[in-house]
Amino acid sequence: MSAPASGPVAARHVVITAGPTREHVDPVRFLSNESSGRMGFAIARAAARRGDRVTLIAGPVHQETPAGVDRVDVVSARDMLAAVRSAFRDADVLIMAAAVGDWRPARKLAGKWRKKDDGSDTASLELVKNPDILATVARDKGHRLAIGFALETGDGLRRARAKMKRKGVDYVVLNDASALNSEQATVTILGRDGSERRIDARSKDEIAEVLVGLELPTPSQ
Ligand code: CTP
Repeated sequence: MSAPASGPVAARHVVITAGPTREHVDPVRFLSNESSGRMGFAIARAAARRGDRVTLIAGPVHQETPAGVDRVDVVSARDMLAAVRSAFRDADVLIMAAAVGDWRPARKLAGKWRKKDDGSDTASLELVKNPDILATVARDKGHRLAIGFALETGDGLRRARAKMKRKGVDYVVLNDASALNSEQATVTILGRDGSERRIDARSKDEIAEVLVGLELPTPSQ
């Protein structure tokens, strides 16, 4: 049977990442960060509420899966890249709220890293760069919407704009450092079209509502 000529507008498929990534040094130790995942989970909740189909790709966090959301748990940045690539294939929007670790140990030890009794008080860990998930996926996004986050100190606006260009995304949400692991946040949403919208000390749920309402900016002049 053919589809009806008119009817409800098809729901968007929105891919959202949240939380930290974890890079193992050995089976019991890892490099990670303080991200709670609250922002990404709030965005997933807001998107599901507006009727979007939501795939939430989460690093290791203690957050309840929002109702109606498809959750994929990952550990490392490379796991997250694979999950995002696969989910974004048929998606319309990517929102990268995850705090992806930029580096991983060059080698993961199969057994526990033991201190050696050779009299040495120092040790070093060789690190290699992780793939930039947002930049990699945004490269082939076409006219689909891609939104990134930035946490900057100093000249944040200028750096965030440069990041938006470098990663080829439509919006960058510039976060105040106080947002990390907190209920509230102050953000500035920078658009590829030159737009700038500041949202002061609001709950992550309120900010999430704004983010899921963003549309593809018109091309910059
Ligand atoms: N990001 C990503 N893959 C990475 C690192 C970051 O997809 N390996 C995404 C984050 O999810 C976020 C945005 O890119 O949406 C900005 O991340 P940030 O770490 O601030 O950017 P970097 O380019 O790593 O810049 P910096 O040198 O400031 O750390």
